[in-house]
Amino acid sequence: MPVTFRSLRPDDKPLLADFLRSLSRKDNYYLLADVNNDQTIQRWMDNVASGQTVGVIALVGGHMVGYCNLKINNLPWVRHVGEIRMSVSAAHRGHGIGRILAGKIFSIARSRGLQKLWVRMASSQEAAQVVFQNLGFHTEALLSGFVKNENGLTEDLVIMSHDSGELWSF
Ligand SMILES: CC(C)(COP(=O)(O)OP(=O)(O)OC[C@H]1O[C@@H](n2cnc3c(N)ncnc32)[C@H](O)[C@@H]1OP(=O)(O)O)[C@@H](O)C(=O)NCCC(=O)NCCS
Repeated sequence: MPVTFRSLRPDDKPLLADFLRSLSRKDNYYLLADVNNDQTIQRWMDNVASGQTVGVIALVGGHMVGYCNLKINNLPWVRHVGEIRMSVSAAHRGHGIGRILAGKIFSIARSRGLQKLWVRMASSQEAAQVVFQNLGFHTEALLSGFVKNENGLTEDLVIMSHDSGELWSF
């Protein structure tokens, strides 16, 4: 079945909730949201409505199979920075969906003039590191032992960033 991509909309809550709740324990372990808490998902949608979260989703047969989010903040001192997060369902990995989602969010971030983009992941999340390396991100920091993984083992937290290299003011 073909994969389609579109923006995440404020009324996509059921679609997003179904996707997040379908993820394996390992995958939803690393989300910043408690997927079983309806209010948490509602806050996510509220952020989409307010523009603080910009999302692109991948759909197969009407079901969401992946997302990539850009989180922006209007506070003056961090208004040039965006954080990216993403996930693709295990059954649909390895077909380029992650690469396309991340590429679309990267273009949106650039078109909005964001100067610094960053993404954080556990050191074992190797595919994500490849996706962002391919977009020109580099490892900005390695925080030793900052992650307790789903098996209770300690891992490093990898922070990757991309700098547009532009001097700007907005
Ligand atoms: C990261 C993730 C979104 C990638 O999704 P995907 O649809 O499988 O990605 P793609 O098929 O586009 O593959 C992306 C690249 O990763 C590479 N890759 C895939 N699995 C890999 C692995 N286990 N180790 C190293 N590289 C891997 C692919 O070869 C591809 O590289 P290429 O474009 O140079 O060929 C997916 O693995 C995922 O959801 N992981 C769990 C959540 C996560 O890690 N999120 C990131 C933190 S925000």
